[in-house]
Amino acid sequence: MLSMFLAPEAKETAKAVAGTAKAVGKEAAQAVPKLPPLETEHSWSMPTDASNFAEGIDNLYLFIVALDLFFFVLVIGVMGWFMWKYRRRSEDQKTSSITHNGKIEFLWSAIPAVLLVVIFAWGEIDFVKQSTPPPDAINVRVTGRQWFWTVEYPDYPGVQLTSSVDEPVVSLIVPKGRPVRLTMSSEDVLHSFYIPAFRLKRDVVPGRYTNFWFEATRVGEFNLYCAEYCGDAHSKMTGVVKVLEPEQFEAALKEAGKLEIKEGESDRDFGERIYKRRGCNACHSVDGSKLTGPSWFQLVGRTETFTDGSSITVSNENLDNYVKESVLTPQAKVVAGYTGTNMPSYQGQLDEKQIKAVVEYIRSLK
Ligand code: CUA
Repeated sequence: MLSMFLAPEAKETAKAVAGTAKAVGKEAAQAVPKLPPLETEHSWSMPTDASNFAEGIDNLYLFIVALDLFFFVLVIGVMGWFMWKYRRRSEDQKTSSITHNGKIEFLWSAIPAVLLVVIFAWGEIDFVKQSTPPPDAINVRVTGRQWFWTVEYPDYPGVQLTSSVDEPVVSLIVPKGRPVRLTMSSEDVLHSFYIPAFRLKRDVVPGRYTNFWFEATRVGEFNLYCAEYCGDAHSKMTGVVKVLEPEQFEAALKEAGKLEIKEGESDRDFGERIYKRRGCNACHSVDGSKLTGPSWFQLVGRTETFTDGSSITVSNENLDNYVKESVLTPQAKVVAGYTGTNMPSYQGQLDEKQIKAVVEYIRSLK
């Protein structure tokens, strides 16, 4: 519905602006993860609408904007008119004494109050709709962690998608035209699951579940963000949402959720993929820089002292056991200087083969 406001020449300008952004993006590509293109025709217009709730939310938004504009013009207009009408006409002119006007005061209180109730009721009706999923919805579990999203499908066991701080990867796959119900929680701090194209934004809170449902209406790829400041890499807590035709959904889900060694791939390379796809990179660097967790760079040969005062010197022999223990029971040995509370156990998330590949990857970081 927004396109009716857009003049064709403005669309050209938007394209040119997008081009410039692309050029700038190239230089910054090293540091900042590359996101899918901005889903707007204009930098100031609404994002693409790709869910069943988008139009309703846009309409409410535009209603509020129209209301604002109307009152802005009214108030500023009347003010200007009064300034002119009641201007001082001579040096010794006295202002007449005015106390109040009950009728006008009642109106300027009652009219805005009624309008506010209309806005509230409108929003509340939409909110209740968004919180009441239909019974046949596809279930999706979303977990927020510093700083990646994990998405699981209880109806499709074993499928797990994870976002990556290095690059936007597909983190949520949904079919077009079928209701999807999200049950969301956080393992650490407040996050907010935000898909502008779906007009979906809900806080993801530790210690409780928040819900949302939607039906995607448009096939394509859309941005996913974290919209609540949650620490260092908050701005990299991004991903890509893929909406597919219903008949392609299940096959694509299986393919994307697979994290298996490829034919001819070395354990080390497989380990690197796991590092990026299972969120390890959110906390462990591979270049020696200090993040939330100890760096994996040159771990072999390093002497690690733990919070309980004990220590080990990591060698090629004990690396396997040390890494495995840290992956499955992260609290067993916490390196001094780190809290260890951010590290989730990967029990049941990574199998033996995958852990072995991670070990080989760490071994290669000399
Ligand atoms: Cu998670 Cu910001």
